[in-house]
Amino acid sequence: MTTASERYDVIVIGSGIAGLTFALELADSARVAVLTKRTLADTNTALAQGGFSAVVGDDDQFDLHVQDTLVAGAGVCREDVVRMVVESGPEAVRRLVERGVKLDRNPDGSLQLTREGGHSRRRVTHARDATGCAIQDALTLRVQEHAQIEVFEHHHAVDLITRARSAKGRGIGLPGSREDRVLGVYALDTTTQTVRALAAPVVCLATGGAGRAYVYTSNPKVATGDGVAMAYRAGARIANMEFFQFHPTLLFHPTENSFLISEALRGEGGILRTADGEAFMARYHPLKDLAPRDIVARAIDRELKTRGDESVFLDMTHLPAAFLESHFPTIHARCMSVGIDMRTHPIPVVPGAHYMCGGVQVDMDGRCNLHGLLAIGEVSCTGLHGANRLASNSLLEGAVYAVRAAQAARTLLKETASPPLLDVPSWDAGDARSPDEHVVMNHCWDEIRSLMSNYVGIVRSNLRLRRAERRLELLYGEVREDYWRFLLSADLIELRNLCTVALLIVRSSMIRQESRGLHYSIDYPETDDLNWRHETVLRRPAYE
Ligand code: SIN
Repeated sequence: MTTASERYDVIVIGSGIAGLTFALELADSARVAVLTKRTLADTNTALAQGGFSAVVGDDDQFDLHVQDTLVAGAGVCREDVVRMVVESGPEAVRRLVERGVKLDRNPDGSLQLTREGGHSRRRVTHARDATGCAIQDALTLRVQEHAQIEVFEHHHAVDLITRARSAKGRGIGLPGSREDRVLGVYALDTTTQTVRALAAPVVCLATGGAGRAYVYTSNPKVATGDGVAMAYRAGARIANMEFFQFHPTLLFHPTENSFLISEALRGEGGILRTADGEAFMARYHPLKDLAPRDIVARAIDRELKTRGDESVFLDMTHLPAAFLESHFPTIHARCMSVGIDMRTHPIPVVPGAHYMCGGVQVDMDGRCNLHGLLAIGEVSCTGLHGANRLASNSLLEGAVYAVRAAQAARTLLKETASPPLLDVPSWDAGDARSPDEHVVMNHCWDEIRSLMSNYVGIVRSNLRLRRAERRLELLYGEVREDYWRFLLSADLIELRNLCTVALLIVRSSMIRQESRGLHYSIDYPETDDLNWRHETVLRRPAYE
């Protein structure tokens, strides 16, 4: 059983904008533990380039931002959620600034706004082309300063501890059932290789996305879908996993292939061209290079497949060199470091996995169907993004839901103060031994990522999905055997989670028999509003 020092009021897993904002909102009234599998700064947030969308411009209105979000979401957004998030935007920006985030300003002191695909107005607040880094640095500092927040770096969450699991065989009910609730989390301390049982009546998942399920991705190495996989195993409802957003423009380079080339470049006039110089987007959409992201990514995919080219090119050479250097210093420097001068040469780009629009299905306050469990940020499915996320709406969503979920956590804490919680059992490693064959695990990683890229990427078909499912089921069986047989390692935990998430993406894609937003199937190329204008939901059938 756990010792008293390992009990908290609230545990939050993940340290991006959602997790850290949530911790800061709660820390004055609760004892908060922040778990992160590497360091506080290793997050998807830190890599965000474009920015944080909010209605702060003189020519903008809430209705316009709502409308743009609904259009991108292709009929499956929850409209009440969209309105709530959009209307909370200006206050969320104010809180970020108050916490020390330095956003770019015009000479008159107003916030500088850029434009991205699908936005009818300039409404993307930013810190040059490294907005996420500015946010991450400021929030990290605030969290480190706070006495009530205990930070556990290098602690890899393994699984949620729930009442059903702890009392397995004692008739308390199935995972996710009415009587079930979350009690804490098992976490592997990767510096000592020991598993700790941390107890809390409220656990908040803020673990980000799962771009590492694909070969080309803008996501950092940590994006392995841990939160979705843990929540699924614990009986939570998982929605809309077929909607995985591919960013149209990642740098194409043999070694630097996960570097994002921000959509803000096209917002400022960048033009996509084929290798022979044709500005091809005019053939695909009236908005050309600023068409919604799914359309641009599919157009590039099609050009690459029909022409047999390895990349297309983003041409910025018609814009003043000084403008490029001052607005996009990070991108300019990274391109120069691999010998590409964007002032004089088009940048070679390919689409890559970027954002998981599906996730743990939650209500307006980040609560899911498992009592005590909250989910915020990319790991959650709130209904804001629907079938396709509007650019720069995700940092906004993370910040807004962090505040609402913190309020939900306060309410949960009041409710759980009186009845004693079940004891939390310590981790039992059984007869597990050290893994002897790393080659097997490495091969599994490669196999999952390559089959997801080839069969479950931008364009899908029944045949590809069936084959992907068969292979993933086989791999999952093997990974589960390893999970029970070998001592835990970060690699093994991530592999198990990635495999689970890949299967969820495939199964959700198989359910949706139409094309909509980010899900395009050559077997069902039309959108079918009569039958499919709703979320797809998956739930683990029974205890494994
Ligand atoms: C970008 O900078 O292009 C990414 C913005 C986003 O995905 O929201």
